[in-house]
Amino acid sequence: MSIDQQDEFEKMKKIGTIVANCLALLKASARAGMSTKELDDIAGKYLESQGAISAPKSEYNFPGFVCLSLEKTVAHGVPDTTIIQRGDLLNIDVSAHLDGYYADNGESIVIGRGSTQKELLCKSVKKALRAGLRAAKAGCLISQVGKKVERIAKSHGLTVIKNLGGHGVGQSLHEEPEFIASYHNRKDKRVFAPNQVVAIEPFLSNGATWVKQDEDAWPLYHPEFYCAQKEHTVMITKDKPYIFTQPDRSFS
Ligand code: CO
Ligand code: CO
Repeated sequence: MSIDQQDEFEKMKKIGTIVANCLALLKASARAGMSTKELDDIAGKYLESQGAISAPKSEYNFPGFVCLSLEKTVAHGVPDTTIIQRGDLLNIDVSAHLDGYYADNGESIVIGRGSTQKELLCKSVKKALRAGLRAAKAGCLISQVGKKVERIAKSHGLTVIKNLGGHGVGQSLHEEPEFIASYHNRKDKRVFAPNQVVAIEPFLSNGATWVKQDEDAWPLYHPEFYCAQKEHTVMITKDKPYIFTQPDRSFS
């Protein structure tokens, strides 16, 4: 969607803040010894307290309030009784809707202190998202985001995941523009529209370029390499995008 009324902007800001607060709460709550289900329950309670509804649950019948992907699971990890271990790589992805408006954000973290490789992945993907966002301007090619993300990945000796990408969001969880790649796709001639609402979410890896999914199973994974993600929901402008998924001060 593209925002053309102040009222839509305010509603996006409201749900953006809620999913960002929820992500911040889960980052602060995640610790070794707890199960991913316990963490998911915290998310469920928080979203409910804000009147927001989990988007994966309502849109896709996902068996959890949020996606919690541990270690080699890259995305769409299902919360269960698995115990989080010290040093684990955990991706937390929170998306929800309120009053008909949707926002989506995510981040990969290391529990306690992890390997240098995992720490590097989490740090680099944040940098890659910042670089990608700087390229996301009204009238500019969507493919510039991937170009910038890929450049950051390469500068750290990392790879980008090619079959996961950003997407339009706003009046549903996934809408036009479909698939905002994390690599430079020269064939993609689409441009960003003014006030367009998109979720940008690069995935970087220490070797993988594709993630796999088993038939009839939720998780996206790579059997060998680690992957990290960072995602924001933003509104495109002619300058820097406006980030909806910023937590309130008390959560950040
Ligand atoms: Co997400
Ligand atoms: Co997303």
